Amino acid sequence: MHILYKIKEIEHFISIEKNKGKTIGFVPTMGALHQGHISLIEASKKDNDITVCSIFVNPTQFNNSSDLTHYPRTPDSDIKLLIDSKCDYLYMPDVDDVYPNLDEKTFDFGYIGLVLEGAHRPGHFNGVGQVVSILLEGIKPHKAYFGIKDFQQVMIVKQMVKQSHIPVEIISCPILREEDGLAMSSRNVRLSLDERKLASHIPKMMQEANLIAKKQSIENAKLFIQNFVSQFPIMKLDYYEICDVDTLEPITILSENKQSVALIALFVGNIRLIDNLLVK
Ligand code: PAF
Repeated sequence: MHILYKIKEIEHFISIEKNKGKTIGFVPTMGALHQGHISLIEASKKDNDITVCSIFVNPTQFNNSSDLTHYPRTPDSDIKLLIDSKCDYLYMPDVDDVYPNLDEKTFDFGYIGLVLEGAHRPGHFNGVGQVVSILLEGIKPHKAYFGIKDFQQVMIVKQMVKQSHIPVEIISCPILREEDGLAMSSRNVRLSLDERKLASHIPKMMQEANLIAKKQSIENAKLFIQNFVSQFPIMKLDYYEICDVDTLEPITILSENKQSVALIALFVGNIRLIDNLLVK
């Protein structure tokens, strides 16, 4: 695997690969890689001749400076995992290479940028838009891969690519879960043993809430989640909503004709976790 630190270098290597007729798949990450990221690498390898991964903890998408400081950084094990998964190129820049100038680009994502994560993490999606557009414009992949655990982020990236006319296909890939059902996340390693145990309730309560939404009502599903979370002093609910999968408009009554998704964000101790589950 080639490890490159400068966007100019990666642009150079990728243009050589493209001149040879190779297709390029790209997996942007913030490192602290786990099997969920590796499943994106595998999806890219299946679809493309060459796979590029980036590791960059993007400061502009953190609305909380302590979250940025404490974001896990494990470059050595990340590199090992990527070599083992036969990734071809790793782009691992520092902040100056990605943002040689202060990035003041602002995006208007409309409704989908204002609700849920958009409402609870002001500026977060603008930062995601900034970094993903810079990476896509530099690397110019044919396809880019994102995990659907960040359900709203995938919608935002698709919209940003459309608005900015970036010629790339955005591929969304399924959530990978730990044995007890907890969605894989780089943040999971920051949970203490007790918090990690508590976090395993999240997927189970999401499933239970989906059943309640179908058998009773969405209102009862929301009450169930609120009551469940409030039993545990170290858990704090940021939001739980059932939304239309295409618009993220909240749904009050389930309908056979509209696919909906339950989305949750909550704190377990100081760690903010998100998850989602289609309501089928
Ligand atoms: O999902 C992430 O890890 C980040 O938001 C991304 C897409 C790599 C942009 O920094």
